[in-house]
Amino acid sequence: PIKLIIDTDPGVDDSMAILAAFNSPEVEILGLTSIYGNVPTPMATRNALTLCHLAGRSDVPVVEGAHKSLRGVAKERIADFVHGSDGFGNTNPPLAEASPAPGSAAEFIVRCAREHPGEVVVLALAALTNVALALHLDPQLPEKLNRLVVLGGAFNVNGNVNPAAEANIFGDPDAANVVFSRVPNCYVVGLDVTHQCKITARQLDGLQGRGRHGTFLRSISQFYLGYHRRVYDMEAVYVHDTAALAAVVDPALFDWEEGGVVVVTDGPAKGRTIRDEGHKRWVGTNEWQGLPAIKVALGVRSERLVSWVLDR
Ligand code: BDR
Ligand code: CA
Repeated sequence: PIKLIIDTDPGVDDSMAILAAFNSPEVEILGLTSIYGNVPTPMATRNALTLCHLAGRSDVPVVEGAHKSLRGVAKERIADFVHGSDGFGNTNPPLAEASPAPGSAAEFIVRCAREHPGEVVVLALAALTNVALALHLDPQLPEKLNRLVVLGGAFNVNGNVNPAAEANIFGDPDAANVVFSRVPNCYVVGLDVTHQCKITARQLDGLQGRGRHGTFLRSISQFYLGYHRRVYDMEAVYVHDTAALAAVVDPALFDWEEGGVVVVTDGPAKGRTIRDEGHKRWVGTNEWQGLPAIKVALGVRSERLVSWVLDR
């Protein structure tokens, strides 16, 4: 199986992705690393521990990540209006009492990649601060990782924080630039594809009674569904983080385009992801030259993806 580290801010859709990963024989979860985003980092840690407990996998280590962006800014915008103030859609389930493993998320990523050279996949489901810090600790990390799969960005579509930015990239645009400029074996799954993948309210109801995971996910998804109802006027939720898990297990679900990616770091377009479409028409030198050609998902077999997600 693929040795997987999930870097996460659970979060309703992170919870879906994590439980789906526990139900996927193709992956072996080496650990979860926490990061701010949907909730502050300490709550992400606690929620990740709770999800491991729920999955009967308290043996899987949870390692706490950064509390602030690379610029040292504590998260301005916690998404309690999307995921509830507990990250579990305000259902306030009993939380696991276990402790996180010692060390930092960045150290954990570096150590796992050293122990299993060429085998580890990092699935980054939130701001990219931990991954950027890991690259700082070990500049050779990209050669040691099998690949990095990122849920984030909005290329040919508007963002979800504002017209420019998708939430995970907005959380730490500097970290995203570090990652996109240094990791050639990087796959990016953004809103271009996740907004094509929806789970309907009825499909969510169908999870009820499908084991402890199904019942839990249906329950925490109700608040998340309310957000989609208000903001997108639909009786369905977008599949974000679990789509990125699907990209780990079955990359052929997506159409990938290769090219350099740059993130805007300041001003009203902060968090905007811009992709070089490779027209080779640029004259003279520019800062895009030398950027690795990373893979961006621009098309998706959405029906197949959604049924894969519901199955897991
Ligand atoms: C991303 O932002 C978070 O709210 C979700 O968990 C997902 O990772 C979608 O933009
Ligand atoms: Ca997330």
